[in-house]
Amino acid sequence: MEQNFLNRELRILMLEDTPSDAELAEHELRKDGIAFTSMRVETRAAFIDALEQFQPDIVLSDYNLPDFNGMAAIQIVQREHPEVPVVMVTGALSDVEAVELIHAGARDYVLKDRLARLAPAVQRALAMERDLRARKAAEQALRKSHDELEERVRQRTAELTNANTQLQAEKAAQEELIGKLAEAHSQLLQSEKMASIGQLASGVAHEINNPIGFVNSNMGSLQRYMQDLLKLLSEYENAEQQLPEETRAALAGIKQQVDVAYLRNDVANLLSESMEGLQRVKHIVQDLKDFSHVDKQEKQWASLEQGLDSTLNIVWNELKYKADVVKEYAGIPQIECIPAQLNQVFMNLLMNAVQAIDEHGRITIRTGTDGDDVWVEVEDSGRGIEPEHLSRIFDPFFTTKPVGSGTGLGLSLSYSIVQDHGGRIEVKSAPGQGSVFRVVLPLHAAAA
Ligand SMILES: Nc1ncnc2c1ncn2[C@@H]1O[C@H](COP(=O)(O)OP(=O)(O)O)[C@@H](O)[C@H]1O
Ligand SMILES: [Mg+2]
Repeated sequence: MEQNFLNRELRILMLEDTPSDAELAEHELRKDGIAFTSMRVETRAAFIDALEQFQPDIVLSDYNLPDFNGMAAIQIVQREHPEVPVVMVTGALSDVEAVELIHAGARDYVLKDRLARLAPAVQRALAMERDLRARKAAEQALRKSHDELEERVRQRTAELTNANTQLQAEKAAQEELIGKLAEAHSQLLQSEKMASIGQLASGVAHEINNPIGFVNSNMGSLQRYMQDLLKLLSEYENAEQQLPEETRAALAGIKQQVDVAYLRNDVANLLSESMEGLQRVKHIVQDLKDFSHVDKQEKQWASLEQGLDSTLNIVWNELKYKADVVKEYAGIPQIECIPAQLNQVFMNLLMNAVQAIDEHGRITIRTGTDGDDVWVEVEDSGRGIEPEHLSRIFDPFFTTKPVGSGTGLGLSLSYSIVQDHGGRIEVKSAPGQGSVFRVVLPLHAAAA
């Protein structure tokens, strides 16, 4: 026979009250080549006991027994050992009874007068059981691998979630860094610009200084010479009466031709205007020099509030008709600085503030401390700064003022002074709503 799936000799439990019937059945099985060990029981108690002790691979059960029956046996097997197939071996059996048995769980039934069917029936039942077990094992393996897969997916998801949050954190850190980099970059650009402009300015200032010097002194001489010449002209005019009539007429003709009266007046005007112009050029040169720090001064401990007051005094004439000046000093401590330079910063801010006011407005000067910094704020109620100008106001020569009233150097100069002090200038402004310039300086000067 084909080797059964148990890989050992078959164990058959027979529920049969007639020993000869059992022997007949055994004979049939052996005849068909099935090797087995068997045990025969008759009662319910013996049957239950044998199910546990003998551990049969298959049960062959009679239908009618003196104090037990096949149907009950099937139910016990179904309940206790559903893996053990039951084949009924009975005398006569009605169709209804047969259907009931199969319903209850019997694998097959064989009539005692057709025992030739027994061996194939047993083999079929065992084959079916083998298939069932294989399927169960496969299902179990499938479920197990499914569970394992699910666990792996869960783990992987957790890992991915972890990696994702880490990535998010890294991304945020990166964005912050990029922001800082951009800020540093723009600061670097501004200070680069300042450094090269500083060099340029000091060169230009130097070059202009010489011609300004001699033009200035020549203008002084010219003014004196003109005064002398005019004095001489007056004397000649006084002496005119003594000249002959003819000569006087000729002189009068020339005088009218050149318009001596106007000339006399205008010469003085031209000279003083030119001197004024020269003064302005000298101022610009001085600004350029200051801007490039040609004349460096020593650092000292000084009060910014005192500096503000003395600067206010100097510019008071420009301010007093155009603005109410409000001081909100916090009584900040002295800092190590070059006061003359910072005063110049304050002067620039104050002049810009008053120049931004059209009719009449208000200028507020505040001071305060913030951690290791002190700050000075100049706020005006003026016309404010256009957003597109905000990024350019610290550029040298950037001005929105008419030619002659603005050089565009004030803020760039202030910027470099404050930067040399290890500080910064912050601006807040909106068109039509005024501006606030804040100078922030470290309490303790950086070693510079
Ligand atoms: N308080 C302010 N209100 C409005 N605009 C200002 C103010 N301060 C500066 N600005 C703008 O910045 C420009 C540059 O200022 P600045 O460098 O001092 O040069 P200038 O005063 O000679 O024009 C000014 O022309 C003006 O447009
Ligand atoms: Mg200015």
